[in-house]
Amino acid sequence: MNAPSAVQPQRPTTALRPRAHHFRGSLGRFATGVAIVTFDGASKRHGITVNSFTSVSMEPPLVLVSIARSAKAHDELADRPFTVNILGAEQQKLALHFAGSPGQEPVWVEGPVAPRLANVLAWFECRPWAAYDGGDHTLYLGEVADFNYRTGDALAFANSDFTTIPESQLGVEDLL
Ligand SMILES: Cc1cc2nc3c(=O)[nH]c(=O)nc-3n(C[C@H](O)[C@H](O)[C@H](O)COP(=O)(O)O)c2cc1C
Repeated sequence: MNAPSAVQPQRPTTALRPRAHHFRGSLGRFATGVAIVTFDGASKRHGITVNSFTSVSMEPPLVLVSIARSAKAHDELADRPFTVNILGAEQQKLALHFAGSPGQEPVWVEGPVAPRLANVLAWFECRPWAAYDGGDHTLYLGEVADFNYRTGDALAFANSDFTTIPESQLGVEDLL
């Protein structure tokens, strides 16, 4: 990784435990897209569904995902290239497949940096940049090496449920 890596041991937490359900419900009011992080581990290929994706920096181009320490993919993601695959409206079954409910078999594409999924709405192939302590999660930052997108409606997640965002409501990049 280029920048200092700062994965710290998990500290004991005291706050919020009795109100965890309410905390989750409050967080769930923040509507997001849905993505799958894919990468090659030491012995197998991994994929994990996330909605914690966010853009971080334009120069250098950096993006972030937050991965639970309890996830099978957590430890292996450190120092490995990965792809963030942004899902289209019709890809909910793929989201469930990589969230512990296997069903729809993915179609893989061999990217030059990391494996990715076919026909996703957008993708970002990333080289590892840094990892930061995020409590019971680790924040993995990737430097975007390549990316692309297609037209189509987006898969979204709000109030603990899947929904869609019509393409007509996407694409306001020029306003940013
Ligand atoms: C819509 C949605 C969003 C999710 N977002 C995250 C996330 O941002 N980070 C995370 O670690 N797990 C997230 N999860 C949970 C993981 O996808 C799920 O726990 C997965 O099964 C963990 O992988 P494992 O079974 O290989 O450990 C999300 C699940 C769903 C359905």
